Amino acid sequence: MPLIAEIEKTFLEKFVGEYALFRSPGRINLIGEHTDYNEGLVLPAAIDKHIIMAIGKRDDHEIHIYSHDYSDSFTTALEDLKPSGKLWPDYIMGVIDQFQKAGKELQGLNIVFGGNIPQGAGLSSSAAVECVTAFGLNTIFDLGFTSLELAKLGQAAENQFVGVNCGLMDQFASIFGKADHLIKLDCKSFEYTYIPFNTKEYSLVLFDTQVKHSLASSAYNERRRQCEYGVELIQKHHPEVGSLRDATHDMLNKYVKNADEIVYNRCEFVVSEIQRLQDACNDLLADDFIQFGKRMFETHDGLQNKYEVSCEELDVLVDAVKKHPEVIGARMMGGGFGGCTINLIENDAVEKVIEATSKEYKDITGKDMQVYRVSIKDGAREVKN
Ligand code: GLA
Repeated sequence: MPLIAEIEKTFLEKFVGEYALFRSPGRINLIGEHTDYNEGLVLPAAIDKHIIMAIGKRDDHEIHIYSHDYSDSFTTALEDLKPSGKLWPDYIMGVIDQFQKAGKELQGLNIVFGGNIPQGAGLSSSAAVECVTAFGLNTIFDLGFTSLELAKLGQAAENQFVGVNCGLMDQFASIFGKADHLIKLDCKSFEYTYIPFNTKEYSLVLFDTQVKHSLASSAYNERRRQCEYGVELIQKHHPEVGSLRDATHDMLNKYVKNADEIVYNRCEFVVSEIQRLQDACNDLLADDFIQFGKRMFETHDGLQNKYEVSCEELDVLVDAVKKHPEVIGARMMGGGFGGCTINLIENDAVEKVIEATSKEYKDITGKDMQVYRVSIKDGAREVKN
């Protein structure tokens, strides 16, 4: 049975009353990693894997949530929102909490949700849950938040309620996604443009390491602090520099390099990555996928050696595809320390590359990789029958 039908069926089994259905997708990111929280640029897109949520209003203040994927329920009340200890309800409660903090009066809710975004794979299934909740609440209560406000409310839920200090990229992509387009988002001004991504002879294929190392979130927060420290060092001489977005290689060489070599490497990666993204967008406009792909490999190299957020499994996958000239670009994607690599592969070679890479990955790591072929779809929507 299709996912939407399953969610509706489950809602009708669990609850009575009217409901509306919403969809919000996971995301990929082509280039521009760890740049969002440095007020840089990112180039994500929403994908054909999503969360579906059925939401109905209640007459009281109770919140009843059923997770279709975990076959598990959770009940609370509007005035009693706190972390649940089992994480999955927290993404939804965190958003409801943000809506209330923004002064919105809500009613009780019946919710059933489920999805097909692989979890822990770096495809932002948690942002999709936040965004489908935010989009759904905004619609059924007719609250009038803009799309940007919805993305920011989702991010605030993740920062404050879940405790992950993420940037805005994932939630922005889940809300603003547009079929067959990448989103070039400026995380300083929040201006964005859609760039057509007509890959024609190339396929977008994700290779999932099937690992998520436990240091992922502490290392993420540590990288953020290192970037902030780099900015502090520069600010002593250039008070006008508010983030790494405003920093130059010259400033890093003068004020950061001798003070702290590790912090220098982190900052150097970010400043280079922001420039790389601009160049990569020009490649796309010139229809030069080969050059675009080369920059993806460069990004991986920086994430591996300068930002140090890769891991053995991700490096094995990127090194493995370098043996196939039909793979024109590949890199780790997202926060790092596990999850997926993103690969641009000539259509005719996809099967061959998958077969060879799966085998090599198994031989070296002893693990099985998963493969997802993705296409680029629209962002959050109400699903009408
Ligand atoms: C995670 C975060 C994003 C972004 C990426 C790295 O996906 O949620 O905000 O920082 O890592 O680019």
